[in-house]
Amino acid sequence: MSSQTDWQEIVVPEKLMNHMAEGLRASQEGRDAKDTPIFQEILSHLGAQRSVVDIGAGVGRFTVPLAEHGCTVWAVEPSELMRAHLQEAVAIKELESAVHTLPGMWPDVEVSAAEVALAAFVIHFSPRPREFVRAMEAAATERCVVAIHVDPMFSGINDLWRVFHPDRMAPQPPVFRDLYPLLLEEGIVADVHVYEEPRNGGFWRDPAKALEGLAELLQIETDVEREQLAVLLRERIEKQGGAFSFAPQASRIAVVSWQPRMT
Ligand SMILES: C[S@@+](CC[C@H](N)C(=O)[O-])C[C@H]1O[C@@H](n2cnc3c(N)ncnc32)[C@H](O)[C@@H]1O
Repeated sequence: MSSQTDWQEIVVPEKLMNHMAEGLRASQEGRDAKDTPIFQEILSHLGAQRSVVDIGAGVGRFTVPLAEHGCTVWAVEPSELMRAHLQEAVAIKELESAVHTLPGMWPDVEVSAAEVALAAFVIHFSPRPREFVRAMEAAATERCVVAIHVDPMFSGINDLWRVFHPDRMAPQPPVFRDLYPLLLEEGIVADVHVYEEPRNGGFWRDPAKALEGLAELLQIETDVEREQLAVLLRERIEKQGGAFSFAPQASRIAVVSWQPRMT
């Protein structure tokens, strides 16, 4: 198996992980994961065992409703903070017997095969997407399901990035157009369904948290730059009438789904 690196590794600092967890929890309030085409795709490919491996389970947006739908879920999650949120959500719903939490990074985690391998909004973090995908195929007997953004995720901060780093491009996590050619090269012709998520301010609803999170994203290191960012932020919040969003104009999601090839 090659260990070729196709994508730049995205390491989320624990501080941002907190924002991410809050964002995921907030998005649960906005739209129930059960109502998404991702969830429907998983349900439609379950077999008699109703087993799923949820790679990068986060706070359990999919793990918990899947367990409520009678599935056994192996939830792979490297972040201790995310696992704490996940375990709390599982305990509240008394689903401990259906959910097995596995700490670690895909594809370096061993799991026994499940019917469906799900990776929702996680493959873009991996520098080794080919190995990631091959390990999904090895872990699934019926279906592999990947959800990935179509629209560049951080395009809303490009202008701010240019203020602080005029000499280099903003890092952009891989999106659908980066994934699909790579699947084709691997010999996988996947079904794709694209849907639109309602635009939500997500993570950055609270200006104080926005400042902290943006400073991380923009790789700001000095107090002078942080002060400059605070001023720019205030201006933007005023312009946007108090509402605050750096999310891209459109947020389309691709549900990429295929039958795993037997190895
Ligand atoms: C944006 S969240 C998505 C969480 C969940 N799938 C959802 O849709 O709500 C991405 C999660 O993937 C985890 N993650 C990042 N790299 C990973 C890897 N290589 N293997 C497994 N999980 C990973 C992060 O810790 C984080 O919890």
